[in-house]
Amino acid sequence: MRLDDIDLGDPALFRRGFPHEAFSVLRRDAPIWWHPAPGRLHPPVKGFWVLSRYDDIEAANRDTELFTAFEGPSLQSPEEMRGTMMVSMDGPAHTRLRKLISAGFTPRMIARLEDQTRRWAVSIVEAALERGTCEFVSDVAYQLPMHMIADIVGIPVEDRAWLFSKTNDFLQCSDPESSIPVSEVQAIQVEMFQYAQKLGEQKRKHPQDDVWTILQTVEVETDDGERSGLSQIELDLFFLLLTIAGSETTRNAISLGLLALLEHPDQLASLRRDPTQMSSATEEILRWSSPVAYFRRTASRDTEMRGVPIQAGDSVTLWYPSGNRDEQIFDAPFRFDIARSPNYQQAFGGGGPHFCLGANLARREISILFEELLARTDDIALVGDVTYSVQGLANPIVVSAKELPVRLQSR
Ligand code: HEM
Repeated sequence: MRLDDIDLGDPALFRRGFPHEAFSVLRRDAPIWWHPAPGRLHPPVKGFWVLSRYDDIEAANRDTELFTAFEGPSLQSPEEMRGTMMVSMDGPAHTRLRKLISAGFTPRMIARLEDQTRRWAVSIVEAALERGTCEFVSDVAYQLPMHMIADIVGIPVEDRAWLFSKTNDFLQCSDPESSIPVSEVQAIQVEMFQYAQKLGEQKRKHPQDDVWTILQTVEVETDDGERSGLSQIELDLFFLLLTIAGSETTRNAISLGLLALLEHPDQLASLRRDPTQMSSATEEILRWSSPVAYFRRTASRDTEMRGVPIQAGDSVTLWYPSGNRDEQIFDAPFRFDIARSPNYQQAFGGGGPHFCLGANLARREISILFEELLARTDDIALVGDVTYSVQGLANPIVVSAKELPVRLQSR
């Protein structure tokens, strides 16, 4: 593949998963690369910078004064997202909002959720084992992150299947091959916002020990020292962020993690023999799957990277799966090695104030799910092709596993 052939706006490039071949070329030949405006996209996307090396991603990620998050994380983030979500805020406003919510995600909190995670994992794996042959993405990988984020946010069990089918449709409708038309996206968003508002009313009437109750009543200090609650649009977007960030990403790590283990039977056998390797295996699964493809930042002033001039207002995209295969950082980066150490994987971002809030939760979900799955199975076999859903540049996830048919053999 040559540099001139790379068109990151073309869904076909992602149809078989993340295009590592293209990014190997970028890391080698043009680590700070100007991508011309991709045609055909709605809303249209201007040209943008592509950062593909680990160190550059980390540097840009950490310097939020130079590379601001304000315009939103996607190259197609809508205007109303500017400065209204945690992922599209900078400085003290971002810190204040993040503090509010981080109480729900500390290591202590995640430790408290440990038993709950395991109970869900056991019931999900046992239900799949009863079926024998299952579609791993929706039957297993989808289920655990959905229930965990719903428990944390405070979404009643009976609403979950409906609500998370909406988050799923919301992401899939930007895939040109999906049966859900892209024109549906607004309608789906409105339905989710209406649900979030109704749930908010219930929490105000009957407060509970969950994140959605906290966010209904909390007051934040503005830059001029005044205190006010979150506005309706801030709450709506928060709901969307938590339900999508908390479910789709971890689902993809679990699905692609299983695929990696099945494609590397020596690694799977080693993990079965010695389950104490689970935490390093989880880091390798995260490095390998890297479920978020990119985050966009915007240069706040003229600058340069590796001698390449970047102008104020330019979009700069940070491609985490590429950083995770950087030959200058990782030994044999294309080898899936569950014992890799050290493993400074970048799947949760390159550090800095926006570092993934759900990192501890996601890690525990992945580890616990595989512990329970491997403890209950003798054999797992792929019984069909893996397929992918391509959201394209509209969503920073860009591409995710859609179907992974497997046969599970109980112990
Ligand atoms: C394997 C699973 C996950 C991956 C790969 C992932 C990846 C990421 C990445 C790359 C970022 C941007 C970091 C940056 O800009 O520096 C991020 C931010 C975020 N993630 Fe995750 N994430 C995962 C799971 C979760 C979960 C389970 C939650 C739970 C709610 C979550 C909530 C968030 C939030 C709220 C932010 C925005 C933080 C901020 O802007 O301050 N993520 N995540």
